[in-house]
Amino acid sequence: MAPSSDAAADGEPSGDVMTYHLKAEHELRIEVDFDRQVTVKLLSGDAEIFGCELPKGGAKTLSGVKCAIFTWHAAQIQIVGKPDACYEAEASAAMRSYLNLHTALEERRKAAVTTTSPTTKGPRVLVVGNTDAGKSTVCKILCSYACRADAMHGGVAAAAGHDHWVPVFVDLDVGQNSVTPPGTICAVPVDAPVDPVDGWPGEAPLVYYFGHASPGENAAHYKALVESMARVLAQRETDDVLARAAGLVVNTMGWTDGLGYDLLLHAISALSIDIVAVIDHDKLTAQLKAHVGSQGGDVQVVKLPKSGGVVTRDTNFRKRARDRMIRSYFYGSRSELNPCASAIDASSFKVFRVGGGARAPNTALPLGATSRMDPLRVAPLPMTRDLERCVLGVLHGDNAALGDADVLSKPCAGIVCVTEVDASRGKVHILQPSPGSLPSKLLLSGTMRWND
Ligand SMILES: Nc1ncnc2c1ncn2[C@@H]1O[C@H](COP(=O)(O)OP(=O)(O)O)[C@@H](O)[C@H]1O
Ligand SMILES: [Mg+2]
Repeated sequence: MAPSSDAAADGEPSGDVMTYHLKAEHELRIEVDFDRQVTVKLLSGDAEIFGCELPKGGAKTLSGVKCAIFTWHAAQIQIVGKPDACYEAEASAAMRSYLNLHTALEERRKAAVTTTSPTTKGPRVLVVGNTDAGKSTVCKILCSYACRADAMHGGVAAAAGHDHWVPVFVDLDVGQNSVTPPGTICAVPVDAPVDPVDGWPGEAPLVYYFGHASPGENAAHYKALVESMARVLAQRETDDVLARAAGLVVNTMGWTDGLGYDLLLHAISALSIDIVAVIDHDKLTAQLKAHVGSQGGDVQVVKLPKSGGVVTRDTNFRKRARDRMIRSYFYGSRSELNPCASAIDASSFKVFRVGGGARAPNTALPLGATSRMDPLRVAPLPMTRDLERCVLGVLHGDNAALGDADVLSKPCAGIVCVTEVDASRGKVHILQPSPGSLPSKLLLSGTMRWND
């Protein structure tokens, strides 16, 4: 239905308040640039932003977002401010298929929590597709729906004190991360619908620092980190029946051919994926079906439509989005945090990089093969000005016990950014999220750079 201008209706001279009357299974798609603010309010009916319900009468202020306010039944939405784009569209096909997938996941969760078999797990879904297919959005919707569902059963619910699932969201996209800074992979338990303003819950994420915006920079290192994360998640599931039943929702990058495809297959196997949801990609669907068929396992490959609302982002936008993500790590998304600039002794920590060493002498290789760089070699880096602007991952762990192998397996406690290397004084100036000494002396570098 056409929007009405409240100003016109009231006869008051304000053109910035619009009321939209959305029909069932329609959505209001809104784009708001970073330098603007738009307030949305649900006046009546029901509405959700990527699976997170809008409270009736409650207002949300959006800035720097492209999103959709969707209604299953009908809704009256008030928009205050000037969005860069705002239009209504029908969204039944995409949203119904996402809901159907969610319903299938719920069945598996219920089956997993009611079984006595310790090996029966809840759904482990991997969302794949090209860039700008809506993968991150589908992950958000699936996690939010799982958190909203009244899905607990009998004594399990009561014993756990939960009334909804807490699925784990795994983000394997090191270039356009949803939760943690670029260059990382992470797993985070999602215990509430993903708020359109506050984003994903950031509590207790399990993070690994890779240090590059593309896994192609060092695929072996990337795979090693995915495997390390998978081991920790498997342990958590062994200890916790509800975690095992709630399952995983895994986001991937949009690289689906060549090495990118190989990395998807690796993730399927490392994380014991049992449902692969392919968004709008017939060739990939066919390839994956043929692959899982040849493996003889019970991995299901399902096809999902792409929402007509997904907005494409160019390379420059992606780079800016990464810079913003690092900025908000240090300063907060609303500049509410105070990072700390400190000068630390170069002798008090070590910076490593992964890859770059010689793999093996040519004489040790088959005839005709040549030696390549060992992608998993851990090498210390000198404290030179080359480190300036470098984003470094600070690895978790007991300082005394850390060795090369830890670099490939230890989670990351946070990131710091090198602002200046003063070699003559033996000092390295860094920006860190909070004051105090670093959680460990082991820092990992890659190709991520950032300018404060
Ligand atoms: N239905 C929709 N209406 C409006 N914007 C959308 C819709 N679905 C997704 N978007 C936006 O489109 C952009 C790309 O979607 P995203 O899920 O990040 O794609 P991908 O992860 O596949 O690259 C994001 O900014 C997202 O918020
Ligand atoms: Mg994405």
